[in-house]
Amino acid sequence: MRARVFPDYEAISTAAAYVVAGRLEEEPSSVLMLPTGITPLGMYRRLVEMHRSEGLSFANATFFNLDEYLGLAPDHRASYHVYMKEHFYGLIDADPARVFVPDGAAPDPEAECERYEAAIREAGGIDVCVLGIGRNGHIGFNEPGAPFDSRTRVVALSESTRKVNAADFEADRAPERAITAGMATIFDSKSVLLLASGTNKAGAVAAAVEDEVSESMPASMLRNHQSAVLFLDEAAASDLGHGVAG
Ligand code: F6R
Repeated sequence: MRARVFPDYEAISTAAAYVVAGRLEEEPSSVLMLPTGITPLGMYRRLVEMHRSEGLSFANATFFNLDEYLGLAPDHRASYHVYMKEHFYGLIDADPARVFVPDGAAPDPEAECERYEAAIREAGGIDVCVLGIGRNGHIGFNEPGAPFDSRTRVVALSESTRKVNAADFEADRAPERAITAGMATIFDSKSVLLLASGTNKAGAVAAAVEDEVSESMPASMLRNHQSAVLFLDEAAASDLGHGVAG
């Protein structure tokens, strides 16, 4: 796993957008796995700009989202369906038939998880997986302790994650469960790009990069990946010791 440190959030966002755009220029039918949250907003903004001003096309790409809250209908304002539509899919030329977000309102969530894994397999696997990182080191909604061999499944969200995400929900009550792509689902991606910005991610970043690889620190799994890179701003890199390439 390589780490690259950029001066600030805008620089990470631009660099991440170039990674995605470069991949699509090379192979327009690439399969991408994408995160929600605050961190990727700048990358989505840059990609939308590239679409509008430089003609970058997403029409042949396939998209999978990492996760969705369980129990939220796709039109719930805090759902990741709505987030992705507002910030990305609704602003580019994505083919709706090739956009996949787990259905948090599926009557049979276990079957939905299987359907999701099957759709990823049918698409030929993930080429580029873009990740954020939780303050506790989660990736997707794989909280500490998530088995490295896990696949897309229903998971319980940790109290700390629910607290961080509470503001998106009425009475500050985030859902207790989610559907997430599993650790092995992520690991099987041909390449992985993890984005982290801000001092509140510095502890998790340092633990993922420098402590032992352990299921108690989900992002540390990426150290065993042959093509994983971290894009950090200086704040997110501030707890790292020496030995990290700049
Ligand atoms: C969201 C996701 C999460 C976030 C993480 C960081 O789809 O998979 O793992 O990437 O919680 O969230 P932000 O970017 O809001 O700090």
